[in-house]
Amino acid sequence: MTITPENSGTPAYLSGDLAPVPDEIGAFDLPVTGALPPELTGRYLRNGPNPLPGHDSGHWFAGAGMIHGVRLRDGRAEWYRNRWIRTRSFTEDARLLGPDGLDRTAVSANTSVIRHAGRIFALVESGFPYEMTPELDTVGPCDFGGRLTTGMTAHPKTDPATGELHFFGYGFMPPYLTYHRLSAAGELVESREVEVPGPTMIHDFAITENHVVWLDLPVVFDMELIGRSLPFRWSDSYGARIGVMDRAGKVTWFEVDPCYVFHVGNAREDASGRVVLDAIRYTRESFVSIWGRIGGTANPAAETGGAVLHRWVLDPATGGVTEEQRDDRAVEFPTFNENLLGRDSRLLYTVSDDAVVKYDTESGATVVGDTGGRPGEAIFVPAADAGAEDGGWLMSIVTDRSGEGSRLLVLDAAGLEFVASVRLPRRVPAGFHGSWLPDR
Ligand SMILES: [Fe+2]
Repeated sequence: MTITPENSGTPAYLSGDLAPVPDEIGAFDLPVTGALPPELTGRYLRNGPNPLPGHDSGHWFAGAGMIHGVRLRDGRAEWYRNRWIRTRSFTEDARLLGPDGLDRTAVSANTSVIRHAGRIFALVESGFPYEMTPELDTVGPCDFGGRLTTGMTAHPKTDPATGELHFFGYGFMPPYLTYHRLSAAGELVESREVEVPGPTMIHDFAITENHVVWLDLPVVFDMELIGRSLPFRWSDSYGARIGVMDRAGKVTWFEVDPCYVFHVGNAREDASGRVVLDAIRYTRESFVSIWGRIGGTANPAAETGGAVLHRWVLDPATGGVTEEQRDDRAVEFPTFNENLLGRDSRLLYTVSDDAVVKYDTESGATVVGDTGGRPGEAIFVPAADAGAEDGGWLMSIVTDRSGEGSRLLVLDAAGLEFVASVRLPRRVPAGFHGSWLPDR
């Protein structure tokens, strides 16, 4: 029987498609349906919370990080393995807020996994990155030679022109927001405080060719929630601002309708110098609903609609901003061709309950690709010889509707047609973000 909140008393974040797996396994020569493109030679890695058996982390976002990996080579699926990330909170039960203050190695590292300058990092926004091997063993925490003094967002951005990695850390004590930049070689070369009015939860941001785009939104730190849940809640008084920061650090702030954004799509500068930002936007009601569900405090039956695609156009020359809802489907996990990150692009890929939804953000046209189950984030992998923005594939871990098994699904990104799927040896819990790491 599938355990649900109704039949077990188990919180939603430990039930159904979020239920953790109990152990680490490995399997070789996985069955493939269709034909894996030989060019897809590398590793697909995906991170997500997976508390140890018997542990209740109190919130979906707080569970110990586990990476699921699938090794593809020359049309074959060589292996699958899943490994917990051996952070200090995993191995020693150390706490972020300890007797000696903040310990940024005592974190879950459960949100995303990236590669920069040849190093693989598991990321969670409250802490330091944890370096991993290509075989998913934990190397240890990284503070870039002592230079990093804040957490590191799970959503850093690689500038496709320079190879630099832009990121930030936020905190519940000043400095509330700090911008950082890693060189293409992996050196932390810039850290700069950005002034915001208070401690808000900032999950993602955007960059364009010349700017960094900040989301200062009304989900605020609340000390009283420490020990009970993740200490953040919606605030009706904080207000909502989007900031456009130039390379010199000057920020122009734009007041916007209060909302929350976990994930941005792409951002770019238009011909008039305006910044165009596409993101997946929650209203107050939809944020409170999902926050309650993943925090285990809400009745799933009382959930309201999810988040939808939204566009802001911000003009630093005039201070003017326009915003527009672009669709009414509930979607999340926007991805796009990151060779065009911060530059002109028009295509976004998102996931809904049982499909990939592709948006042409200029025309408004959509393509819906049935995934035959519940998809996780669909990563865009560009083909080496691609001429078009959507020349490449989407890769997503899809869990069968029965909830019993999972597949790594490969779709053609142009028309969302089925290309191949790899049967994984076990169900993979719904999680957060992954990366495709091609062999060099
Ligand atoms: Fe995220």
